[in-house]
Amino acid sequence: MNLKTNFDNLYLNNPLMPASGPIVGDSKKLLFLQNEGVGALVTKTISTKEPHIPRPCIYGDKDYIMNSELWSEHSLETWVNEFLPELVKNKDRPIIISVGYSKEDMEILIPALDKFADAFEVSTHYVGTDLSVIETTVKTIRKHTKKPFYMKISPHIPSPIEFAKTIYNAGASGIVAINSLGPTLKIDLPTKSIKYGAESGFVWTSGPVIKNLALATVYNIKKALPHITVIGVGGVKSAEDVIEFLLAGASGVQMLSGAMLKGKGLYKKIINDLPSTLEKYGFNSVEEVINYQLNNPVTYEKHTPILEEELCTKCQLCVKICPYFAIELKDKITFDDDLCFGCGLCISKCPTKALK
Ligand SMILES: Cc1cc2nc3c(=O)[nH]c(=O)nc-3n(C[C@H](O)[C@H](O)[C@H](O)COP(=O)(O)O)c2cc1C
Repeated sequence: MNLKTNFDNLYLNNPLMPASGPIVGDSKKLLFLQNEGVGALVTKTISTKEPHIPRPCIYGDKDYIMNSELWSEHSLETWVNEFLPELVKNKDRPIIISVGYSKEDMEILIPALDKFADAFEVSTHYVGTDLSVIETTVKTIRKHTKKPFYMKISPHIPSPIEFAKTIYNAGASGIVAINSLGPTLKIDLPTKSIKYGAESGFVWTSGPVIKNLALATVYNIKKALPHITVIGVGGVKSAEDVIEFLLAGASGVQMLSGAMLKGKGLYKKIINDLPSTLEKYGFNSVEEVINYQLNNPVTYEKHTPILEEELCTKCQLCVKICPYFAIELKDKITFDDDLCFGCGLCISKCPTKALK
């Protein structure tokens, strides 16, 4: 199975990369991930300033992570003199250097880092929503590098399409979508306190709960601007998720929280699972997924579900959850055709797939 993908002259053996965060915080961590088989390396965001990070700063729940981390705790000098030389000596795949945030930062960071990078990824997380500011930052970066670079969009940017148009017209190669969602708030009930998020109390949310927002952002941008490179990120935790991002329009896919919730071995597992998962859904390569035109079979006709009796265990979950009060257990599960709205909830929730 061919897992290769390429964009802007970056060639990846498979589409899965780490997303910027603590897991890619120095060269040792990045080389660990190279060993795990990721398609490209992405660094923690490097800035010109020292971050002041409150502790604790990461909270993990069942399907989300909340964090109040900022950018790399290591200085530009440490990256330039220690981590990146070691990385470049030992790496055998593309390295995308993440940088932040302002035009002034870019004047310093891009010239200092250019010789180590195959591409840049630029966080816009803390620069507000003014697109003219972001446009100036993009133009400044382009002045200092010929390499591909991707602007990373945060969910608080009001119009992803306008953002994508602006940054592409100003010289960026594409977009990384999305950064973590927020601001959000974590209340610790036993201590009646806000344990995370420094003085403001706000934290950023990531992981599986943001996947559908990330997918929609990727899809919207790619639909409006088919020529732009989109790297998808947000909530990935399986090979299926990677394929969904590729179908939505991504040329590569990143993951962070999944590995923080399920373990760092998840990168290798997903890469190993990709061939059989692609095959299961009828694909012969990653490229085929990327080029596939996603179906959207809209209908306004109502259909009452059909029960496959032999699969039904009569657990009555459908009866309990039906918001239209249309399902009853008689001798078997039955639907009231007049009450049924054809909403589909029961079909999506049936644990034995007995409803069609
Ligand atoms: C603890 C933590 C630290 C992060 N640090 C950065 C960062 O330095 N730069 C950045 O662009 N994104 C950062 N992110 C955002 C991730 O790169 C990613 O966009 C987001 O978490 C969504 O992907 P995920 O659901 O796979 O984690 C961080 C996320 C977390 C959870």
